[in-house]
Amino acid sequence: MSTEKTFYLETFGCQMNAHDSEKVIGTLQQEGYRQVETELEAGLILYNTCSIRDKAEQKVFNRLNDYKKLHKAGKRFGVLGCVAQQEGEKIFDRAPYVSLVSGSASYRKLPEMLSRLESGESRITGLDDRQTDETFETEFTARQNPFRGYITIIEGCDKFCSYCVVPYTRGKERSRGSSSVLAEARRIADQGYTEIQLLGQNVNSYRDPEGKSSFAELLDAVGRIDGIRRVRFTTSHPRDFTRDIVQAIDANPALCDHVHLPVQSGSSRVLKMMAREYTRDWYLERISWIKAAKRPISLSTDIIVGFPGETAEDFIETMDLLQEVQYDCVFGFKYSARPNTPALTMIDSIPEGEKGSRLQVLLDRQREIQRTNYSKQIGQSLEVMVENQNPARGQIAGRSSQNKPVNFTNPQPIAPAPGSYVKVKITGAFPNSLVGEAV
Ligand code: SAH
Ligand code: SF4
Ligand code: F3S
Repeated sequence: MSTEKTFYLETFGCQMNAHDSEKVIGTLQQEGYRQVETELEAGLILYNTCSIRDKAEQKVFNRLNDYKKLHKAGKRFGVLGCVAQQEGEKIFDRAPYVSLVSGSASYRKLPEMLSRLESGESRITGLDDRQTDETFETEFTARQNPFRGYITIIEGCDKFCSYCVVPYTRGKERSRGSSSVLAEARRIADQGYTEIQLLGQNVNSYRDPEGKSSFAELLDAVGRIDGIRRVRFTTSHPRDFTRDIVQAIDANPALCDHVHLPVQSGSSRVLKMMAREYTRDWYLERISWIKAAKRPISLSTDIIVGFPGETAEDFIETMDLLQEVQYDCVFGFKYSARPNTPALTMIDSIPEGEKGSRLQVLLDRQREIQRTNYSKQIGQSLEVMVENQNPARGQIAGRSSQNKPVNFTNPQPIAPAPGSYVKVKITGAFPNSLVGEAV
């Protein structure tokens, strides 16, 4: 019998989770584990989970259920991430074949938890009570994207929006020292990365524990590292969105022309019930700073429809805001009641069907806005970072600084390599992508 240690890891949820998985994979490899492609091949099966909306969580339990018979064949199961932190030891009751349950705030203890697992323990937990100040930093990150390097600069959340699980699943807000962030950025630039994306649930709530740099200064410093051509950051919270972020983008060409600024609702009344701690006007003031920039900064957002008590008038205010801001991309969600959250006790009076039709109205309107926005770029020359090629169709795909997908043809005999930067003349537009030709 083989004694090789193998693992399978599947990731659900946001970019923070995806990047945590890169660090978890690196840590497991360091502990002598080899990653395999399927549950069937693995000795240890891990799910890095999300619980932001109801379906996200259900997916994980369905997956655990699908594979539970593998437990009889001696395989071990672990649940990581937000469902793990949220449900805690209850997971052992619902899925008794699970041996490890750990939230993201406990990943520093992974090596120790793994050795307990190897010695046969079956109910290992890494659960945090919003106490930890630790951040998960490792030099063993197994980066899955060859061009875009992710770096977490702030973990957790202290905002407690009334609908959201994140403050309960990711622990309290804690930032990483700027020297450590810059050291990691330099290290991956030396490895050949030209694009860096700084991550945090509220990335711009960053507070340097070393007291050296503000968020805007950190952005600028990352953009000044030799070899770094693009810096992105997500997600920004309107509350902490300061003018110096726009000034930094204007001053430093390496900072990308894109800000993702979730609004959630266009109605101040709903924003208040959501405990977002800003009003429609406050939000629009930040948008006006961004629009006044010298650079053409693209805007995207998240919106929740059907929050408890959202009236038809409130929803119209959200539609008006959409019209006013003219986003390039909107992630729209139907409100989903979540465990532990204050909104759970509000009367969720809007029928699912009504939530669905509000979402559809919103997305249809947004599609038209994007059709107009994207077509305005026809005739421009944009710098595109090549991501992949489809030789069959002679098409090359990449992204502009504004994060718009660009599909282009290349008249030169040699196709540009993935990871390289190409000037592309835009000749056509769809609501979600641009087309063009390399110049
Ligand atoms: N920290 C970021 C967002 C993190 S969660 C911010 O505050 O903007 C990502 C998105 O999921 C949120 O912006 C919100 O639009 C959506 N979301 C969070 N909780 C939700 C819920 N209970 N129901 C529906 N959508 C939700
Ligand atoms: Fe959730 Fe609000 Fe924190 Fe964003 S700021 S993660 S929506 S609690
Ligand atoms: Fe989901 Fe947790 Fe991210 S709930 S969206 S994986 S922070």
